Amino acid sequence: MVSVQQQSLAERPWLDPNAKPQIVIDGVSKRFGGFAAVEQVSLKIYKGEMFALVGASGCGKTTLLRMLAGFAQPTTGRILIEDADMTDVPPYERPVNMMFQSYALFPHMTVEENVGYGLRRVREPAATKAKRIREALEMVQLAGMEKRKPHQLSGGQRQRVALARALMRRPKVLLLDEPLSALDKKLREQTQFELMNIQYQVGITFVFVTHDQDEAMALSTRIAVMNQGRVLQVGAPAEIYEFPTNRFVADFVGTTNLFEGAVRHQDGGHVTLHCPETGSDLLVDDPGRYGGGDRVWLSVRPEKIKLSKQPTDAVGVNQLKGTVWELGYLGNRSTYRVKTASGKLVTVFAQNERRTSEWAIDWSDEVYLCWSADAGILLRD
Ligand SMILES: Nc1ncnc2c1ncn2[C@@H]1O[C@H](COP(=O)(O)OP(=O)(O)O)[C@@H](O)[C@H]1O
Ligand SMILES: [Mg+2]
Repeated sequence: MVSVQQQSLAERPWLDPNAKPQIVIDGVSKRFGGFAAVEQVSLKIYKGEMFALVGASGCGKTTLLRMLAGFAQPTTGRILIEDADMTDVPPYERPVNMMFQSYALFPHMTVEENVGYGLRRVREPAATKAKRIREALEMVQLAGMEKRKPHQLSGGQRQRVALARALMRRPKVLLLDEPLSALDKKLREQTQFELMNIQYQVGITFVFVTHDQDEAMALSTRIAVMNQGRVLQVGAPAEIYEFPTNRFVADFVGTTNLFEGAVRHQDGGHVTLHCPETGSDLLVDDPGRYGGGDRVWLSVRPEKIKLSKQPTDAVGVNQLKGTVWELGYLGNRSTYRVKTASGKLVTVFAQNERRTSEWAIDWSDEVYLCWSADAGILLRD
């Protein structure tokens, strides 16, 4: 019998102190001249993970992948894959393969030739190779398109050819640089699920780069959030979303409202925050990490704020009055920007459950915002 505890550790090896990481990135930096593209990054990645590197353009994601692949050498630090130091191992001898952002398909080659290109150095009978190519094309649902050239394929199909080619040599780790960025939104969402299925089927580790935080949330076992060459936080999607450790992460992953304040007092798991921006004190659950006088930021996600035309809390705890300043109708939900008396704009997401608009809150309406003490999180940086 496997206990729930053991089972969850098998699925989340990073929580198990005895689990062995497959990839160890140990104090890695990369400098170009005096510029640090990657700065002191240390990460442990486990077999079978779908590990996402997220961050704004230029934060060092591709550079980190290129060092894993062996196309660039760290200036300091080292990379180990399955206990082997990769420092002197050339790219083609590493148990990794990289799928590039541009897909880099050969335009004059057919689909099967492009996929088979991954096997050109593999010594196997032609019939065995043909079988492997056929299986790979079936896996990415391109059976029947063997003879087409890349220009005869849609963006999504080209992406799958590149994926099949990258998997041909059966790498232990596949590195994907913005694998879905060339696809439009609808196709991207569909392809996300395909990618998860394929990863599950082949059972290898995927390390992928994206600047799209929704994509990272939907796909990954864990996310590393990067900024200016550094990793600011690593965690499971829900952990990053619910328990960001600083303002950058809270703001980059999802949308949030940040209220700056000073701790007035704290007792029994509650902090009372003096917050000039809201004109009233705020009450926040916190396990005693802060003391009187500390300057902090309260982060509250837009979907955790209730919006109503009447005050909902007679006591008025965490309740602000404001006016609807902007309103975006997104079909399944609406985004409100509410201006409070102090001029602070607060974002609220409200689900649209009704199709009629008789109760709807509209432009310029006076509204009340309210959230519970456990709705937000206090951040020091
Ligand atoms: N070969 C290079 N020479 C000089 N600077 C580089 C080189 N490669 C990347 N950089 C710089 O390093 C930073 C990180 O780049 P990159 O890793 O491509 O970012 P990302 O993939 O996150 O958008 C950028 O400022 C980029 O201009
Ligand atoms: Mg990049």
